[in-house]
Amino acid sequence: MRISQASVSVHVGVIGGGTVGGGVYQAISRNAALIASRTGVLLKIKRVAVKAIDEPRAVDIPLSLLTTDWRDVVNDPDVKVVVELVGGTGIAKEMILTALRQGKSVVTANKALLATHGEELFKVARENNTALFYEASVAGGIPIIRSIREGFVCNRFLNISGIINGTCNYILTQMEAQGHGFEEVLKEAQAKGYAEANPSLDVDGHDAHHKISILASLAFNAWVSPEQVYREGIRSVIGLDIQACKEWGYKLKLLGVVKYISQESGIDKIHVRVAPTLIANTHILARVDGVFNGVSVFGDVVGETFLYGRGAGQDATASAVVGDITDAALDISKGIPDRLIPMCLNRQVSVLPIEEMENRFYIRTVTGLGDEENAKQLVCGEGIQINSAKVIPTGPHSFVALLTEPTSWKKINKVLSMLKACTTCAAEPVAFIIEDFVGACSE
Ligand code: NDP
Ligand code: HSE
Repeated sequence: MRISQASVSVHVGVIGGGTVGGGVYQAISRNAALIASRTGVLLKIKRVAVKAIDEPRAVDIPLSLLTTDWRDVVNDPDVKVVVELVGGTGIAKEMILTALRQGKSVVTANKALLATHGEELFKVARENNTALFYEASVAGGIPIIRSIREGFVCNRFLNISGIINGTCNYILTQMEAQGHGFEEVLKEAQAKGYAEANPSLDVDGHDAHHKISILASLAFNAWVSPEQVYREGIRSVIGLDIQACKEWGYKLKLLGVVKYISQESGIDKIHVRVAPTLIANTHILARVDGVFNGVSVFGDVVGETFLYGRGAGQDATASAVVGDITDAALDISKGIPDRLIPMCLNRQVSVLPIEEMENRFYIRTVTGLGDEENAKQLVCGEGIQINSAKVIPTGPHSFVALLTEPTSWKKINKVLSMLKACTTCAAEPVAFIIEDFVGACSE
């Protein structure tokens, strides 16, 4: 018998009424009837837990729904889907575990918690025949998790490369477009609700590191913990780096990469990293600016695909969270709460350290005037071939930027230490990978 439209109501409890929690309340209030007309499930928010009821909020949530005790949400027998939008790796873990152990479906946007404790949380969900959904944890409003889990289910993933931190992308874009300084643009990103409560999570690359670890685990069905993944943030990027890259035809982006390398004895070898990266202007990822995220997914059957959208902010993130709530509610209404395991971890993977990878690099140092040639000689002396060089005088110093031919991370690290030890070196030398998308989307 066909269920008539909107005949099943599912009660939802939300913990957290801040940027994302407020957006979720607003989206469900606005579009619950539309969702019901499409799915036959009417979402009803029963309770919302916050830290302080009298806190001013961008989105008004009726007082009758609010509580300061998250257990009121989790223990409410009517609440079938619990949504955790508090953040962090402390109390949020207890909230989720308590809900899962009661057999409730849980939706979270908390990538820090998932990357740190995901293996345990997904296991507890399985043991309790329920599900933990996490679409909003990666790339904000873009349905990247659902695409990898469902749409691309018949693919072996060869390359997933993404701009997956809205705050960093906003900062790099504004530094290029407006010539503004790093700190100034970070404040703007915070005011717009893009940044994490502790913005070091964004600018030091931790947030993208969490997200790329989640994507790698999902794509290769094996737990990839952040400790196995190379991480570098954008604090070392200066305006002149962005300008030099632009003149050479590249955009400098914080890029997360998951690359399939080979398979040995049934174990996939992969490389996973997040780092500032040069991307040729002709590549679609180079056109992802501002708070937008973009993820290029290359599968062995589908070939190249590209997903694009807002990577942070109230409404984009709420859209992903409500998509998950609807999925959970639908599964519950049909009596199959674990229809499609949100994170299937039944394989083994070996993550190659960055030292084993070869790339082309951008190297930058700041030397005393007249010392530019010494810097170049030092690089060549280590057997690294320079493809192109730029010298920009900046007062008493010279900004020296080089593009290299493919070389190893080990050689690059040695050269950076040598450049730093030069007596006239005036700023920490840096090296950024040039991503050539070999074997994937190279046009
Ligand atoms: P906010 O800081 O805006 O909101 C956090 C909410 O949690 C607040 O409403 C706060 O209450 C509430 N809270 C804190 N502690 C408790 C507690 N012990 N019990 C009940 N409620 C509590 O964070 P965001 O909305 O920005 O982020 C939430 C999650 O979403 C994080 O995991 C974040 O990483 C993730 N995320 C955020 C995105 C964004 O663009 N902001 C995008 C994608 C994911 P009160 O309001 O009273 O202070
Ligand atoms: N702070 C995160 C970002 C929020 O800027 O991408 C979205 O995950």
